[in-house]
Parts: sequence; C-alpha cells; structure tokens
Amino acid sequence: MELYNLQVNNRIRAFGIDGVPCFSWKLKDQRSDVLQQAYRITIDGLWDSGIVTSRDSAFIAYAGSPLSRCTEYRWHLTVWNNYGDEASAEGSFETANPVWIARWVESGIKRGVSQYDYENRNANNILDETKSGMKAGAAPVNFTRSFVLPEKPVVRARVYATAFGVYQLRVNGLRPDDREFAPEFTSYEKLHYYQTYDVTELLKTGQNRLELYVGDGWYFSDQASPVLGPRHDAPAVLYQVEVQFEGGTACTVASDGSETCSTGYVVSSDLFMGEAQDMRLGFDQSMPAVLKEYSLDTLAAQPTEPIRPMKQLPATSVFQTPKGEWIADFGQIIAGRARIRLDIPNGQQAAFEYFEILDQNGNYINTMYAPQKDTVISAGEPFTHEALFTFHGFRYIRVSGIDNIRPEDFEAILLTTEKENAGSFECSEPRLNRLYQNIRWSQWNNMVSVPTDCPTREKAGWTGDILIYARTALTNENVTSFLRSWLRNVRADQSERGVVMITSPFEKLYDTLVRGVCAGFGDTEPTNVAGWSDAIVWVPYEMYRVTGDRLILRENFVAMKNFCDALIETAHTKAGGFAEEVDRWLFNTGFHFGEWLIPSEPVGGFEICKTSAYYVAPFFACQSMKKMAEICEALGEDGEKYLYASEQMKNAIQKALILPDKLPEDKMGAYVLAFAFDLVPEEKKAAYKARLLSLIAANGYCLDTGFLATPFLLDVLCDLGETELARKVFWQNKMPGWFYEVEHGATAIWEAWNADEARSTGRFVSFDHYAFGIVDDWIMRRLCGIRAASPGYRHIVIEPMRDVSINWLSRSFESVHGKIRVEYDDAQLKVIIPPNTTATVIWNGCTHEVGSGTYCFR
Ligand code: BGC
Repeated sequence: MELYNLQVNNRIRAFGIDGVPCFSWKLKDQRSDVLQQAYRITIDGLWDSGIVTSRDSAFIAYAGSPLSRCTEYRWHLTVWNNYGDEASAEGSFETANPVWIARWVESGIKRGVSQYDYENRNANNILDETKSGMKAGAAPVNFTRSFVLPEKPVVRARVYATAFGVYQLRVNGLRPDDREFAPEFTSYEKLHYYQTYDVTELLKTGQNRLELYVGDGWYFSDQASPVLGPRHDAPAVLYQVEVQFEGGTACTVASDGSETCSTGYVVSSDLFMGEAQDMRLGFDQSMPAVLKEYSLDTLAAQPTEPIRPMKQLPATSVFQTPKGEWIADFGQIIAGRARIRLDIPNGQQAAFEYFEILDQNGNYINTMYAPQKDTVISAGEPFTHEALFTFHGFRYIRVSGIDNIRPEDFEAILLTTEKENAGSFECSEPRLNRLYQNIRWSQWNNMVSVPTDCPTREKAGWTGDILIYARTALTNENVTSFLRSWLRNVRADQSERGVVMITSPFEKLYDTLVRGVCAGFGDTEPTNVAGWSDAIVWVPYEMYRVTGDRLILRENFVAMKNFCDALIETAHTKAGGFAEEVDRWLFNTGFHFGEWLIPSEPVGGFEICKTSAYYVAPFFACQSMKKMAEICEALGEDGEKYLYASEQMKNAIQKALILPDKLPEDKMGAYVLAFAFDLVPEEKKAAYKARLLSLIAANGYCLDTGFLATPFLLDVLCDLGETELARKVFWQNKMPGWFYEVEHGATAIWEAWNADEARSTGRFVSFDHYAFGIVDDWIMRRLCGIRAASPGYRHIVIEPMRDVSINWLSRSFESVHGKIRVEYDDAQLKVIIPPNTTATVIWNGCTHEVGSGTYCFR
C-alpha cells in the first residue's frame, strides 16, 4: 500500500493558510478489496491524533495545540488497512497570519487622473460607452518602496500583501509567481484576502525595491464594485516583508507611508470596458502615498489557489470580414486575454476588441454589453502586448491599427482559478465529445475567483447558477476550496434577517436591481429569491454528497438555519387567500426569478418570472427544508423543525397547487419539479406523468424548462420509466436542445438555447454560461452510470444506461478516494473502483457487489 495526494485544506499548495487546517490523503494498492482500518496523524510537538480506527481519509480537522504564525509544518501520516499493511507518508503546509505592523497606504494621485490624457483613445468607442453607460477605468497606480537589507544571506523571506483594487507584486523587478487579480473577488467590506509570496530568491543584500502595481479590479469597477459604505478615493496597498537571515536574525519591512506612487504605461483599465496602454509612458513622475486607517479586521489568508494562466491557444486563423475588418479567431471561446506580438511604428495605436460570435454576415458584433476593448500605442520597438488588469470572454478579436496581421502573433491565454482536474469523458460519438468539451470550457471560463454566470457581460457570482451547477462542477474539478471560499462571501453578504443575496460578492448593481423589483412586491429590503438564495443550503450539501465534507456543512450551518428560518417566517407572515394551514406554509410572496429562461417565454423584463415563480417559490422552499433536515441528520443536529416544515409545506402545496389532473401553471418545468421534489401524491402520478409526456411530445420532443427545472428533466423521465424519451430529449438537435448548440458551432455552453439569434438581433446574450452544462451530471450518473450511493462515493453504484447512439464510452472521476473509472463497449464493461470504497455494479441485468480493484464484466 502507498499513500499519495496528501493535502491540507484540499489545496494543491497549502501555502500561507490561516484557521484550522484539515487533512486528506488517498490509498494506492495493487490488491483488491482494500479498506482503510485506521490512521494516525502527528505534527512534531503539537499534535498526535493517536491511532484512530476509521475509514475517514479526508476532511480530518487539526485538533492539536495552537499553530504558530508564518511557520512551515510537516505532518506525518500512518495508515493501516484491512490486510494488516501499514504505510507512512509526509506532507507540509505553511501558516500565514502575520502580526500586522503594516499600515494601509493609499495613492496620492487622484483616482482616474493619469499622467497622460487618454480622452481621445476611445474615439470609436464612445457609442458603446454611451450604450452601456459605463466609464473606462482609472489609470493603475504603481506603489514603490525601496529598502536596504544587511550584508547577510537571506534564508527565508515572505511577502504578505493585499490591496484595494487588483495588484501585481514585483520584487527587484521580478514577479514571485504568475498569479493574476490578487487579492481576488470578495465582499471587501467584510472579507478581504491577502496573499503570501515566497521571495527568498528575489531579495538581495543592500538596496531592494518592492512594487505593487494596482488596477481598478472589482473594488473600483463601475459595474462590479461590491455593496459598500462610501468607496475609497484611490487604490491602496498593505504589505509586510518578513526576512530571516543566516544566523537567526530577522527583519520586517512593512507599508508605512514612505512609498511613492506613479502611473505608467497602463493608461486606464476596467474589468468590463478593457484596458488602454501607451508604451511610450514610463513611471516617471511620482507622488507620495498617504497613510490610511482602513480596517485590518476583515483580512484573511487567500484560501484558494490563485487565478493563473492555465492554457494557451494559438490563433487558428486571421481573416477579413465582408465589412473589411480584420479578425483573429482562436476557434474556441475562452476567458482571459491575448498575448500579441506587435511591431508597429512609434505612436501608432493598435486596438483589440474581444467578442464571442460573428454576426449573420460574418462581421464583428457586440453581444456582450461592455465593449471589451484593449488598446496600445507603440513606442516603436517590437513588443508583446497583453492587458494587465482586465480579462475578457471571447473567441474572436477585431484588430485595427496593425498593417500586417499574422495568426502566429496571437495567442489566447485562459485565466482561471487553478484547480485539479477531476474528470474525463470520451465516447464514440464526436458530437457528444464536443458537448462535454463545451461544458468543461464553460466551467474553466467561469471559475475566475468566484463561480460566475459568464466571463463577459456580468462576471458575477450568481447564486442560482452555481446552485444548479455545483454537482457538475465537483464532478469535473476539485472545486472544494474554491466553493468553500465563495461560501464565505455568501455568508458575509447574508442579511441579519437571513436573506441570501442573488449574487455574492453582492454588487451595487444587483442591490439596485433587487431593491427595485422587491419594491414592486411591497418589500423595502431584498428578500430571499427562490432557487438563488437557496444556494446556501444546496451548494454545501452537494459538496458534502460528492466529497463527504462534513466541515462545509458545519461552517455554513448557522447561515443555512438563518435562511431556512427566514423562509418559514416569510411563508407565515405574508401568504393569503387559501385555507389557514395552506396560508401558514405556502411560500408564495416576494420577488422570484421563477424557472428563469423558459424557452417558450418571451425574453426580457422580470414580469414573466411571476408565472413560474408561482410554483418555483413554494417547491424550492419545501425542498430546501427537506435538505436542511438531512443536513441536520448528517451533523447529528436536531432537524425536527425543518422536517416538520417540509411536511407542512408539501401538504400546503398539495392542497393549493396540485389539482386533480394538472397543475394550475401547466408548464413542463412545473411537472418536472413536482416529480423531482416528490410533491405529486400517488393517486395523481399517472395523470401528471401523462400530462408531462404530452407537453414534451407537443413541443416536438424538445425541452421547455428553465434554469431551475432543466437539471431535473432527464432524471425525472428516467425515474418515470421513460428512458427512451429522456434519450430523445437529450440527443435533440432542434432548438431548444443541447445538440442544436453543438451543431451550430458552439464551443462553450450558451446562456439561452436561441442565443445565436443574437447574430442578427445584437441582443446581449452570453455564449459562455455554464448553467445548462448541468446535463453532464446526468451523463455522468446515467449514461456513464457512476453514482455516489453514500456521501463521498464511499459506496458507489455503477449502472451504465446503454445508448444506441454510442458504441463505446469511457469516463473517469477523481473522487476523494481516488479514480473511479467506467469504460464500456458492446462486448464488455471495465470498471476501476478505488481503495477504501465498495461498489454495486449492475450490468446486463446482473448485480455484482465488489470492493476496490479493476474488473471486467462481459
Ligand atoms: C445572469 C444569470 C443569472 C440571472 C438571474 C442573468 O443576467 O447572467 O445567469 O442567474 O441573470 O436572473
């Protein structure tokens, strides 16, 4: 037996962590039927877990003496299995949490004023700006600090740093790593991350120079800035350098107001509008920085891997459109930006407009709202251009200001939070392979610091999108630390009355929006929005089910309770018009998005949401109560209140909404959700099923479900014994259908099934929304047949559904216990079951109970 993948906090590198760490590992063994029997974790002088008889191998919380700050630790692990074998391994982690002597220092340059007049740069852009009502960002500010180190060799040096704005750190002109957009997107007023850097190799004796180049980022963005009290006037930084020398001496250099500030070649930068550079400009003039008393209480160590360049794509072609525009095409929708080699005359400006699709005539079209336009003025030397403080969602770039455009000069860079891959899928049907790749791309493109709706129009942490997508996300990447971090934002944004916001970090933009729509329902404050706010219950619960992580349930428990209690209260205080017991328990008030984006409904405005909100609100409230009761059970808490609430809500729904032969809102999604949430009484099942099937048939075997019902559609059909129909809807290549997109050139998942109408209408719609990628969860569980029968896949069910459209398929999933793999063709099923798990394999009508190992069934 061997131990591998020893992790702390589920991180690739547990470097610069705070809080109580948790440990995990995996077992490798040639033999079959391996189970862990016991483990022991020790950290010298601090903790000895003793020999713990347990199969747990993940999310084991540290329980030793307090850890020191800014210290590297080694942890030792020994594991015993059911064969009496013993294996040991070692891992490491490093704490952060410095005693801050650093003080916030703010730029002395008034924000928005660059040393260069950039009024003219947007000459062709004005129209777009007026249309979107947004302003270009300000000029990023470079904070510089010089300091002298004694003539002694440095043995260890760390920088702890953060900013208001997004920053890049340089030490003696070099970046310690390739992270982007530090300090990440958080609800800054309540939660603000700092980063830890190893700069041992970058410091030298004598003069040293530290720089933090700070762009607007989310905090100063016109569109994305979080809900705040008064926003600061200018970018600010906080940093602390901790240096240890040979011989045991140490010194600290911290931000203290002795910094100078200057603007440089980045003339303006905004996450949505784009970035303007002028390579002729240096960082010459400087202004003193100003000390500020901003809080240090909100600081926390960044708990995720950074956003980094994770893939490079060469341009597949450059071409000229019928209008004569030059376009670089990367053949793939990607989030990030391009690196472009340029050799143009001094003073000449090149412009790059990033966009997602061509219009119906093959020309440039903006379907993204903000123009995503970067510009650069050459200083006459050949150089490689890349924006510093913005990112875009794009497949194409419209290029102007370059005479000789060559594909080899363009490279697209994917910027996304680094995560371990957890999934792979391939089969004999190329269109399905493309669909899977589209799903993977939308996930990469929308996991940039927080889970976002799209990398173009909004870049926002919409709660509803990740509520439906969390399981798919977990199936394809290790998003544990990523989602854990995002949930901290959700909790930070939750109101005292338990209301979970529609996006987290909650932005001013959405605060205004939600207050507007809520006012229409007589609410003066934002209220819980069905299917969006429920994310506080659903997302941690999905994480627990996929990975077995009980800590995530514990961390979010109070927030979930507050949310559920608020729902119970709301149902009580505001319903009306039904019998008393119904009025008490039917959650049917306030603003809701309803199912959202039902294909047959007209686009635009929130009025239409009311129709499906009628069932979505009470159904989701009831389902969240049920989940909450299950969560209480998993944690050994008393969940009686929520079980009772779910039963009462179900009763109210059945009395008020479940009519004898159909639902009052006779929509496909209503039936789907009623079945999925087990709300249809036995005696009405036949009639309801018949109604659902006839709605599907009448719709040409296309789905007509929105965001919230689509995730359940195919499963409900399978559970009703209508597997063939589920297949038919799944493989549908008419609109709305997944293969319509694939056959119409999609390289990611579209926000709306009819998104490509935007080619002629110019509607602001995204071609890169992961939400409808949830079908991969069905592919994984039904088509590939890999299901978790208990939390964390400790017991696995393998039951592939044969499909005539596929001759063979192969899927793997890296679970917390290791790789699960299913591969089948007409002749056989091959299965890999990882150590420390068991499985029930159902194939060709036979059931096999197996332990870990590699199996082949013919
Ligand atoms: C976003 C969605 C989001 C929705 C809520 C849209 O603008 O892009 O994905 O969930 O609004 O209504």
